[in-house]
Amino acid sequence: MKDKTLLYKISQGMYVLSTNGAACFVDAVSQISGGENPLVCVAVMKKNYTNLVMHKIDKFALMIFGKNDNPEIIKSFGFYSSKNTDKFANYNYFEKFNIKIIQDMIGYMILEKIDTIENDTHTLFIGKVLEADKFKDDEPMTYNYYQEHKEELLKVQTEKGKTAWICSVCGYVYYGETLPDNFVCPICSKSKEFFNRKML
Ligand SMILES: Cc1cc2nc3c(=O)[nH]c(=O)nc-3n(C[C@H](O)[C@H](O)[C@H](O)COP(=O)(O)O)c2cc1C
Repeated sequence: MKDKTLLYKISQGMYVLSTNGAACFVDAVSQISGGENPLVCVAVMKKNYTNLVMHKIDKFALMIFGKNDNPEIIKSFGFYSSKNTDKFANYNYFEKFNIKIIQDMIGYMILEKIDTIENDTHTLFIGKVLEADKFKDDEPMTYNYYQEHKEELLKVQTEKGKTAWICSVCGYVYYGETLPDNFVCPICSKSKEFFNRKML
């Protein structure tokens, strides 16, 4: 791939995917049909704990993340695993069909899982919308906006006078002139290709 940042220009939103026993932050969500029973597809990495759980359940929820929503939600749900973290601990939530729903986001929909498609790295879970409720009429955050404002949203702090390598996915900062070969981000497991060099 020549320029992976072009993919940020595909208008994707930002969401929390939640199901009975796991939740994670996602951007790879598309509405794939409209009409009376809209279908929505979400792509979940196979290495995510949520993927394992999504294979076992029959319903899941997608919450829409807005520009005014708490950016800590991105960190809580996007950088840690449900396997060993209670991701909802710091947020107001309620439950529907045993699925935790955060109250302070734009809104949520509950979907019934109707199909799955496997590829080598991801599973596409297709859901039929059963219910949807909006809590506020705020502007949703796009993935492109996130990419352009990530450092301030994630409060990335770097030390002056040092060369920093910043993970383009989670904002983790590594100091050093070069990144070691086979370097993997300790927070989000991305490889060194995802790091951008910054002289401070
Ligand atoms: C902005 C952002 C977008 C993300 N998009 C996706 C996505 O579309 N699909 C996915 O599987 N993981 C995505 N992730 C990564 C997961 O949220 C992350 O790996 C999470 O820690 C998995 O948690 P789990 O192990 O509890 O499933 C994204 C993370 C961030 C911060």
